[in-house]
Amino acid sequence: MEKLVITGATPLKGEVTVHGAKNSAIAILPATLLCNGICTLNNVPNIIDVRLSCQILEQLGSKISWVGSNTLVIDNRNVNKTHAPLDLTSKFRASYYLIGAMLGRSKEIEVGLPGGCNLGARPIDQHIKGFAALGATVNLSQGKINVKANKLVGTNIYLDVVSVGATINVLLASVFAEGITTIDNVAKEPHVVDVANFLNSLGADIRGAGTDLIKINGVKSLKNNITYSIVPDQIEAGTYMLAAIATKGDLLIKNCIPEHLDSLTSKILEIGGNVECFDDTIHVWYTKRPNKTIVKTLPYPGFPTDLQPQMGVVLSLASGTSVINESIWDSRFQYTAELNKMGANIIVQGKSAIFEGVENLSGAPVYATDLRAGAALVIAGMAANGVTEVFNLNHIDRGYEKIEEKFASLGAKIKRVS
Ligand code: EPU
Repeated sequence: MEKLVITGATPLKGEVTVHGAKNSAIAILPATLLCNGICTLNNVPNIIDVRLSCQILEQLGSKISWVGSNTLVIDNRNVNKTHAPLDLTSKFRASYYLIGAMLGRSKEIEVGLPGGCNLGARPIDQHIKGFAALGATVNLSQGKINVKANKLVGTNIYLDVVSVGATINVLLASVFAEGITTIDNVAKEPHVVDVANFLNSLGADIRGAGTDLIKINGVKSLKNNITYSIVPDQIEAGTYMLAAIATKGDLLIKNCIPEHLDSLTSKILEIGGNVECFDDTIHVWYTKRPNKTIVKTLPYPGFPTDLQPQMGVVLSLASGTSVINESIWDSRFQYTAELNKMGANIIVQGKSAIFEGVENLSGAPVYATDLRAGAALVIAGMAANGVTEVFNLNHIDRGYEKIEEKFASLGAKIKRVS
């Protein structure tokens, strides 16, 4: 079993470049199925979830190759299957995007019910509601979901919860639907906008991505060739911002879009950290122990749930008592038990966690319980006195490319050990 061994309490210093967004790449990869030609994607993170997504597309008939370290060429001219491999699709969450994309392409798809990080209940009722409204028949049985339609017809769809996955999935299914589809109460995350930009570059007619209402004017076909660059990963960038504060460091974070991190920047400034934003670079540095604060996770542009555990590490070390309220996922505080092993003082009560700030953390063996929990424990290890071992790296490798190499280049004493 692999582990990261971290000898902590070294301030991170230097420049780091952010990779393309995981949650955009794993939506745009299936979205390429709407193109019966060749898509070249740049700025693709080489992470487990992207590789899994490629394997699934290959089993449907795509031909995919890496060109250099972060460019993928996807040839979908021979995609002819409508049943995706159940063992692979049930392994990760974003396999649900195959449904919207293949409904658009072939009017039929069968996949395993999506897996992914254990963050509590993860229903897909809003996705299903959208597909059904467009005219599809949805059947769930024996861990599989089969969705098919004779034709898809545009309609007005209101999502009962703001959902990234449902927004993108229903959008994918609407690209070729007859007439106009509107999707109301949608998610506004940068990766939602990125998927719409990708599809519009291919010839789709989608307006309003990034607002509460998306309007899709169905088209008959898309171009058969595109080169597109994935948006930078705001969660990776935010992870470095919080690592800079937790380790008393000073980082220049390159290839990011500072506006995507406004909610985090405000919080870091509020607790006494320093942030300066340039066009595609963010400078974050520590000068004094952070103050206590209150954080509530919300859909974009609110504070992202995917940065909540990393923020939890900073608040573990802040002066005074802080509170985080997690409003998106039921089980996103599992990392707090691991942080407490390192000397943090955190109590979880329902959807809130109370952080009684401590002066120092100390190294311990800890287990990543999900992707962002893993990132938080790596930050905690780099901030703590002594040696921390982080286990369950498969979670971290799902979303961060070469995490230990990047942190080592910033001065962290971190190595991967088998
Ligand atoms: N929800 C429903 N019904 C649905 C869909 C969602 O009730 O049909 C609820 C969920 O239970 C949750 C809330 O709506 O309480 C938001 O869920 P959403 O659909 O937005 O989440 P997701 O699409 O499953 C994506 C990211 C997550 C990220 C969330 C929120 C992917 C593959 N995953 O999940 O990313 O936390 O949006 O921003 O894009 C991560 O990267 O670590 C990660 C977990």
